[in-house]
Amino acid sequence: MSMLWLSFYCLVPTVIATMRDLGKSGRLEAEAGVLLNKTLVIRQLDVTSEHSVKKCLDSLPDQKVDILVNNAGMGQIGPLESISMEDMRKVFETNFFGVVHLVKEVLPGMKKRGSGHIVVISSVMGLQGVVFNDIYAASKFAIEGFCECLAVQLLKFNIFVSLIEPGPVNTEFEMKLMGEVSRSDFPGTDAETIRYFKEIYLPSAHEIFASLGQKPDAVAKATVNVIGMNQPVFRHQTNALYTPLTALKYADNTGNLSVRTFYNLLFNYGTLFHMSLGFLRCITCNCFRRRVMPV
Ligand SMILES: NC(=O)c1ccc[n+]([C@@H]2O[C@H](COP(=O)([O-])OP(=O)(O)OC[C@H]3O[C@@H](n4cnc5c(N)ncnc54)[C@H](OP(=O)(O)O)[C@@H]3O)[C@@H](O)[C@H]2O)c1
Repeated sequence: MSMLWLSFYCLVPTVIATMRDLGKSGRLEAEAGVLLNKTLVIRQLDVTSEHSVKKCLDSLPDQKVDILVNNAGMGQIGPLESISMEDMRKVFETNFFGVVHLVKEVLPGMKKRGSGHIVVISSVMGLQGVVFNDIYAASKFAIEGFCECLAVQLLKFNIFVSLIEPGPVNTEFEMKLMGEVSRSDFPGTDAETIRYFKEIYLPSAHEIFASLGQKPDAVAKATVNVIGMNQPVFRHQTNALYTPLTALKYADNTGNLSVRTFYNLLFNYGTLFHMSLGFLRCITCNCFRRRVMPV
């Protein structure tokens, strides 16, 4: 799903869920049940297409959007040398300019009404770079910077901006990325980098998803909580297990602590890294919670 727009017509909130391929709407329609076309409406939207954005907005009464949730995003992993400039630009077109375009279109209405909320599904990778995610992380850093600028400007108009920053989430995201790298032969990349990527990065990334990955519902609930706040927070990290990793960079403003820690965890202390993930998996698994928590 790319966007959720919430508009209040006649005091009944209407959710406009959008997707670029309406052929995928079946599951959402089934979930919506009797609410479909009453309080939940589904529209086509490709955030990278000016025509599609205009058509979608024009289909709304008065183009009115009270809350804009930007969720559309794409990942990209791999050695930088092996990725074409065209493919890198696609990531920015979706993750950065897609959001910028939608925000630009809804802002005049929000300013006129003196209220609104812009929510962006960012990532912890918008705060902390992660190896072999260069362009994806850069696109999320870019959107974080964009939102930091807007958050201050828009408070003047009683418009809030919120960044939701999930860690790994178990959606189709990881599968799509793994599918893409399995088809690539990494043109232009030296053998040592390919070896690091395949033998060290990919298994670690998979383990991180398995150990720290959240369910998408948890991110959705966190987003709904932020939307429901009287004074919505600007940033919300959804995964407490990931917070210590992003905190490293704030603990040392030379940046060396986080760079060296990540380097050592990945390349020198692999065993410690895997043991820590195993420990986290153990203390956060549901069976352990059931044993120690009184019902
Ligand atoms: N999964 C994670 O680990 C993770 C972690 C942190 C942040 N995030 C962020 O969470 C958001 C949702 O990702 P996800 O995990 O749910 O991944 P996902 O399952 O791959 O979903 C991404 C959604 O974005 C849509 N989309 C992509 N390009 C689009 C475009 N040009 N126009 C409209 N829709 C477009 C996709 O539509 P199609 O179905 O048509 O491809 C898909 O529905 C993204 O912004 C992502 O960066 C994800």
